[in-house]
Amino acid sequence: MLFALLIMVHTLSAVVWVGGMFLMHSSLRPAAAALLEPPQRLPLLCGVMARFFIWVKIAITLLFVTGIWLISLHGSFGKAGWHVHLMVLIAVIMAAIFGMIYGVPFKQLKAAVAAKEWPKGGEAMASIRKLIFVNLVLGLITVAVGAGGRYLPM
Ligand code: HEM
Repeated sequence: MLFALLIMVHTLSAVVWVGGMFLMHSSLRPAAAALLEPPQRLPLLCGVMARFFIWVKIAITLLFVTGIWLISLHGSFGKAGWHVHLMVLIAVIMAAIFGMIYGVPFKQLKAAVAAKEWPKGGEAMASIRKLIFVNLVLGLITVAVGAGGRYLPM
């Protein structure tokens, strides 16, 4: 019962984080770039990310808490499969990249939007877009490895 609950919370947290990045990257930002000028686009994207990043922080916390708990139920980190080792490694990198986005370009974007400095805001948004793309690719790999890894003959 506990194992099932932890897996559910773990997977839902992954869906929120990775799915949110997929929407941002594949649809929201390109649509905003096609339809809106920087004075409308940048405050919109900044507002979307300010809200989404609260959920990302909750998702990261839950992923690590449930993940470590699952490992302890399995026995130990050493006994866990290769897919769990890879998942943890990528999750740590992803969390560090998120911390970088939050601490540097997102902060710059918020300051640029507040000061209505659109070129600066555009530069910050370009950095965020690249870093979110990297995290999206890593996140998709992690979901595939987390869900399918145990069935691979390795
Ligand atoms: C980006 C971060 C992560 C994503 C996207 C992710 C995704 C997943 C997914 C999709 C599953 C499969 C659930 C299922 O269908 O059974 C899973 C399982 C699991 N995850 Fe993660 N995970 C992440 C981070 C972590 C972290 C940080 C840890 C540990 C500290 C962890 C430990 C585990 C464990 C132990 C399992 C169960 C594996 C098994 O029973 O074979 N994960 N994860």
